[in-house]
Amino acid sequence: MKALSLSATHFEKVVFIGLGLIGASLAYDLRRLGLAKSIAAVARSQVTLQQASALGLIDQGSHRLADVVTGADLVILAMPVGATERVLRELAPFVHDHMLITDVGSTKGNVIQAAYNVFGSTLPPGWLPGHPIAGAESSGVLAGRPHLFKGHKVILTPSEQTAAWAQTRLTRLWQQVGAEVFVMSAEHHDQVLARTSHLPHLLAFALVDQLIDRTDNLDIFRYGAGGFRDFTRIAASDPQMWHDITLANRPAIVTALRDYHEQVGRLLTLIETSYDANDHSDALMSVLTRAQAARQHFTHMLNQTAYASSLPRADQPVAVQPISTPSTSWNQDVTQQFICQPGGQLQGRMPIPGDKSVSHRSIMLGALAEGVTQIEGFLEGEDALATLQAFRDMGVLIEGPKDGRVTVHGVGLHGLKPPANALYMGNSGTSMRLLAGILAAQRFNTVLTGDISLSKRPMERIAKPLRLMGAHIQSTGEKGTPPLSIKGNPNLQGIHYDLPMASAQVKSGLLLAGLWAQGTTSVTEPEITRDHTERMLQAFGYPVEVHDGRISVTGGGRLTATAIRVPADISSAAFFMVGAAISSGSDLVLEQVGINPTRTGVIAILREMGADITLECEGLAGGEPVADIRIRASQLRGIPIPEEQVPLAIDEFPVLFIAAACAVGRTVLTGAAELRVKESDRIAVMAEGLKQLGIDCTPTDDGMIIEGRGQAGQPEKSIFTGGQIDSHHDHRIAMSFAIASLRANAPITISGTETVATSFPNFVALAAHAGLRVSHQV
Ligand code: S3P
Repeated sequence: MKALSLSATHFEKVVFIGLGLIGASLAYDLRRLGLAKSIAAVARSQVTLQQASALGLIDQGSHRLADVVTGADLVILAMPVGATERVLRELAPFVHDHMLITDVGSTKGNVIQAAYNVFGSTLPPGWLPGHPIAGAESSGVLAGRPHLFKGHKVILTPSEQTAAWAQTRLTRLWQQVGAEVFVMSAEHHDQVLARTSHLPHLLAFALVDQLIDRTDNLDIFRYGAGGFRDFTRIAASDPQMWHDITLANRPAIVTALRDYHEQVGRLLTLIETSYDANDHSDALMSVLTRAQAARQHFTHMLNQTAYASSLPRADQPVAVQPISTPSTSWNQDVTQQFICQPGGQLQGRMPIPGDKSVSHRSIMLGALAEGVTQIEGFLEGEDALATLQAFRDMGVLIEGPKDGRVTVHGVGLHGLKPPANALYMGNSGTSMRLLAGILAAQRFNTVLTGDISLSKRPMERIAKPLRLMGAHIQSTGEKGTPPLSIKGNPNLQGIHYDLPMASAQVKSGLLLAGLWAQGTTSVTEPEITRDHTERMLQAFGYPVEVHDGRISVTGGGRLTATAIRVPADISSAAFFMVGAAISSGSDLVLEQVGINPTRTGVIAILREMGADITLECEGLAGGEPVADIRIRASQLRGIPIPEEQVPLAIDEFPVLFIAAACAVGRTVLTGAAELRVKESDRIAVMAEGLKQLGIDCTPTDDGMIIEGRGQAGQPEKSIFTGGQIDSHHDHRIAMSFAIASLRANAPITISGTETVATSFPNFVALAAHAGLRVSHQV
């Protein structure tokens, strides 16, 4: 697009036919940006033309097209859609091959039909219908305003006859006024808009209309609370326009209204019967909860936040093709960064959010159990929310999360329902791999998708052994990556599998599939990995046997709901453990952190490096050991990291590398090739960042050699230079470099930090409270 010539971006003469909110706003922007040499308008009302002229929007105006159309290279139909055929007939004698003709109507099928009626089967090459989705309830030329289209979407519906130059010019025009341009078929446009725009407008009109005849209507309007005002705001829109739209898109609107009517009927029955039948009260709750969750999901999408930044759904044709790459994902444009001022120390007591691994499993097992599971301390991070949403999509009623509390109404091992769409796993490898095991055994088919980072991660490691059990599962991305397409098979067979890599996710996926398989499913692992699945299965009353390192479950049992208290996440605590260890004068207590022995590698490694760590108030939370971890600053020394500790600290290496850089002497990590297939290639990305901050390090195939810059007796010496770090959208990389700022001599800026919300949504607030000089910048 950069190569476009001036003539492609500027117009000689633009003629608006109709000059309401949309037309006038576009005229403002054409003027503001100098995109048209002259602007003319056709309007029925003389007053409109006078006002437009007084506002400086037009150079010429008339109620007759013939008076102003000569020399026009862009004609914009901006009147109500019902008049399209009449207007096109009037325009036809003046159309030439270089005239771009577009419209701004909310329906497209009828506009295109009108063009065929006027021009026959050969449409003008410059004819390209469009729809800026930027309407408001205000109308008329005086409602127009500059910048109206900024950040709004514009849909273009070209036909096969539309010339490439027309699409380029119109796309460019809308982009110049700040809009994001999409292309789709007219039919698809009309169906989508019928449900998302036309239906709500008609409902708003209907609600107000219904109240008019009531005797208490004045009170209703006078005391109308926010709900009434919000719901009926759009009933103040232009009736003529909505009349035309309704008739123009009649078939799609009728279907949408019928579906809505049925839904209202279902709701009515549920409400009428909720008092005497508990089932119905649950069902009512389910409707409301599902709707609320979906609304939040959409809000994420609209705000372009992480959780819903989905790729196109894998099982549906991709109907919408953005012309410009939309910045909908943390994998693309950087939208957030951390600014870390150098220095500081960490003091006080810190609550750490819930464990990510345990949170995922609590939803999964709670959903598959019989009865109601109460969860406390649930991590309200993007990854665990993706799991939660997936089970909602499969018909499970889940209340919350609210302040870490979630109530899961289990449906039993055979109660999941087929989801309507692909299940979106966001950034979460754990969700995808564990769900692969569960879904392989269902009676329905599913597709699992994820964001761009997850879409690059290896899935054959779980797909392959599941296939040995009889699963029909395909990693449909390049090189065995997502999307995963799963054809459910309720007749899986138990197998024994020797895991070739130390992966708790693969182990868990297989054990979960084993719940439905015939016979016994068992695994052995090359190194011990986190055992939350095994522990939690037992907490839900499902027997798990462990003999000589072989872990087995036998299919055909049942899970019984229970209460789960999620311990604080040691992987999140690790950032502050390292932070306190490296910053002189620090003394920090991290409260009630999970110290499951399959997760405490970070404590063992830091202690071996000379860290001062003590465990206090040890206890149990939901079958998992917990303790307050107290850590005080001390001089660290470089070590060869024992390989058996690697799987027990697999998520903590980014921040352990920061500790190693502050140590006296060399640290050598080996046996950690798994780091290359995490949310980013953590060996390469950490090496890049460390070098950027002046650290001498050498990445190897399966680890890293780091020359520590610490010096005995100099606990305050700066270790890192300041600099700009690219986190590669990996949450743990971002937080690790934030910790490095405690020993830096200049600010460190870290880009792409949105993903921190996957595991530690309140990182900045907590870290700043403890003494890190970090702030967000959006
Ligand atoms: C996890 C297992 C680990 C870990 C991930 C969470 C889990 O992944 O890195 O953050 O909850 O089972 P691998 O199984 O790939 O090692």
